[in-house]
Amino acid sequence: MHNIPTIHYSDKAKFYKELLSEAQGLCEKEWFVNLANFAALLKQHLPDINWVGFYLLHNDELLLSSFQGLPACTRIAIGKGVCGTAAKTLQTQLVADVDQFPGHIVCDSASRSEIVIPLIHNGRLLGVLDIDAPILNRFDSEDQKGLEQFADILIKGTQWPATFA
Ligand code: SME
Repeated sequence: MHNIPTIHYSDKAKFYKELLSEAQGLCEKEWFVNLANFAALLKQHLPDINWVGFYLLHNDELLLSSFQGLPACTRIAIGKGVCGTAAKTLQTQLVADVDQFPGHIVCDSASRSEIVIPLIHNGRLLGVLDIDAPILNRFDSEDQKGLEQFADILIKGTQWPATFA
């Protein structure tokens, strides 16, 4: 069931349609199951990325959760780095060149560009989805739209606990 065939990225509209359908099919109600599989699904299918994962809001800071890639920084303050900025502004951060982003936090020195999507459920910030790429300008507005829809499937399909304690 989870031996998912390659989805070709050359047609991005088709790519995201198929990715979203795979995400819908994988979705369970338990949050920790979904975070693990959703990170793995992106790592499997998105070309040219070196890190993908989740930071969750816990005691007013972002803490590392399920991811695929090199071990990463464990705690990010709200407002710091790309992740903390997405959490503070509640807006997706599309960063074409991480060296041009003031305060960017280096976890994997291979990362050149990045997208961070805040996860908001019923007005409450749950955390962020962070994806890093080893090439400049990796993500465009079509990726942003597709990945925001991907995050939406996760947010709406999961039963979120009151806290991640
Ligand atoms: N670059 C991120 C930190 C997390 S790592 O990329 C995995 C940031 O500036 O918030």
